[in-house]
Amino acid sequence: MCIKAKSLEELQDKVLNCRACQLRQTCNQVVFGEGDPDANIMLIGEGPGEEEDKKGRPFVGRAGKLLDSILAENGFDRFEDVYIANIVKCRPPRNRIPTPEERGNCLLHLYKQIEIIQPEIIILLGATALQGLIDPLAKITKQRGKWLSWRGIWVMPTYHPAALLRNPRLKQPASEDFKMVFEKYRELIDTKHFY
Ligand code: URA
Repeated sequence: MCIKAKSLEELQDKVLNCRACQLRQTCNQVVFGEGDPDANIMLIGEGPGEEEDKKGRPFVGRAGKLLDSILAENGFDRFEDVYIANIVKCRPPRNRIPTPEERGNCLLHLYKQIEIIQPEIIILLGATALQGLIDPLAKITKQRGKWLSWRGIWVMPTYHPAALLRNPRLKQPASEDFKMVFEKYRELIDTKHFY
């Protein structure tokens, strides 16, 4: 099945009314995504947590603050330079990992979101994003920091910011992964993007 929508607004409308899985029954609201609809970089996380579910926006809790600071250190802003979305748009109860069925339903929305935004680069934040978009058996510890390709788009898997909060030793490798992305951005899109 393919989702029909010509604009992000049209897609958002469909996603807000989606009842394809049971997650919508337990979450407070749908977290569609936010940022520049014409962004060249798209970041994809796992799914909304408690804060995101309250505010209706992606990555606004502690992990989100860390993500904002990683972007800012490299001269990027969440509203102006990137678009942020998740594998599932509704919070799984108690932040459990979304089931394959829940991911499967919601991936159709994500595919359409990517098709409309047309990013040059996708950053996959954590194992669920890597497994959802690329390969259900992929390991984030093996794939992080290595360029992949998905439908002609450059893809960089890295650790989820929540993992960096739990284990600060992952911050250095994650920072190297982000640096590779921002170098690629300067190479492909804007050589003068400031630091
Ligand atoms: N974790 C995610 O994967 N996504 C969010 O939006 C927030 C936390």
